Amino acid sequence: MQEKSKSPFYPGQPAPVELFVGRAKEIDRIMVRGVGQIKHGKPQSLFVQGDYGIGKSSIAVYTSALAYKQSNFLRVYVTLGGLRNTIDVANAILEGIVKASSDQPDIKDFLGKYISEINLFGAVKINTKVLAEDAPNISTPASMIDFLGSVYKKINLPNHPIGGIFLILDEINGIAKDPQFAQLIKRLVDVNAASESPIPLLLMLCGIEDRLREMIENHRSVDRVFDIINIDRLSNAEVMEFYKTAFESVKLDNFLRKMKELGAIKNGASRGEYEFTFTLTPAYLRLISRIDGSLMRER
Ligand SMILES: Nc1ncnc2c1ncn2[C@@H]1O[C@H](COP(=O)(O)OP(=O)(O)O)[C@@H](O)[C@H]1O
Ligand SMILES: [Mg+2]
Repeated sequence: MQEKSKSPFYPGQPAPVELFVGRAKEIDRIMVRGVGQIKHGKPQSLFVQGDYGIGKSSIAVYTSALAYKQSNFLRVYVTLGGLRNTIDVANAILEGIVKASSDQPDIKDFLGKYISEINLFGAVKINTKVLAEDAPNISTPASMIDFLGSVYKKINLPNHPIGGIFLILDEINGIAKDPQFAQLIKRLVDVNAASESPIPLLLMLCGIEDRLREMIENHRSVDRVFDIINIDRLSNAEVMEFYKTAFESVKLDNFLRKMKELGAIKNGASRGEYEFTFTLTPAYLRLISRIDGSLMRER
C-alpha cells in the first residue's frame, strides 16, 4: 500500500521547515530588512514576489519560523486565495490571529469566544459564527490595528516577551485586483506607523509581480510601502540539495541503491555520503517520480 504521508514531496504546499533548502540571500534580506528592523522598533512591510510555484509561500513560512525561533515572533499565516472582499479579508485575518495566539498564556479570556474547541494536539476549531459577526468590526484599518495591538499587549508578557507579529498574507492574487484591498493595506501600514506606540508588525504579502503592479495602479503610494523580495528559480545546486534532503528525510535506501546502479550517484549510498552526478533533465525527473512512486508502494 502506498503511504502518501511518507513521500518527501509536497506539491502545492509550502515546504516543511526541515525540508527547506537554499535561498540564503533572500532569507538574509528578510531577516535583516524585516525582522531586524522590527527589533529596532520599526514596523516593516515586505512583498515576496515571483512566479506561481516558485517558492514564495515556502520562504514566507520558513522565515517566520526563523523569526519565531530567534525572537519569539507570533506567526500569523493567512491565505487570501478565493476571497472576494475586504470583509472576507478581515475575517481571514481575525481567524489567523485567533489560531496563532490561542496557545499563548492569558489570551483565553480575550479570544476565547472565537474558539469552539482545541483538541489534544493543539488544533484549534474556530467558532465561525461569532467570528463572522465580529469581522466587520475589525475590517477598517484603524480597528484592525487596534485589535492587533490589543492581542499583542495581552501576549507580550515580561516573562514571555514577543519579538513582534509576523503576519503573512499569502495568495493575494485574486483580491489584489480590488482597489479596496490596496487601500486597506496602505492604511493599515500608515495607521500603525502614525500611532503612538506602533505594533512591531512585519507584514508580508506574497503574490506574482503583476499583482503588486495592479495594487500600485489602484493606489499609487503602495509603491513606497513595500520592500520587494524577489524569488527566482532555485539554482541547480539548490535543487540537488533539495533532492538530497528530501530523500534522506524518508531514508529511501532503495531509491539510492537504484540511482547508484544507474550511475546517477557516486560514492557510498549511506546517509550523507553520496553525491548526485546527474543534472535535472525531464527524463531524470520522470525517472525519479516513477522510482519514488514504486518505492513508496514497496515500503
Ligand atoms: N526552498 C525550498 N525548499 C524545498 N522545497 C521548496 C522550496 N521552495 C519551494 N519548494 C516546494 O516547491 C513547491 C512550490 O512552492 P511554494 O512555496 O508553494 O510556491 P509558491 O508559493 O510560489 O506558489 C512546493 O511543493 C514546495 O514544497
Ligand atoms: Mg504559494
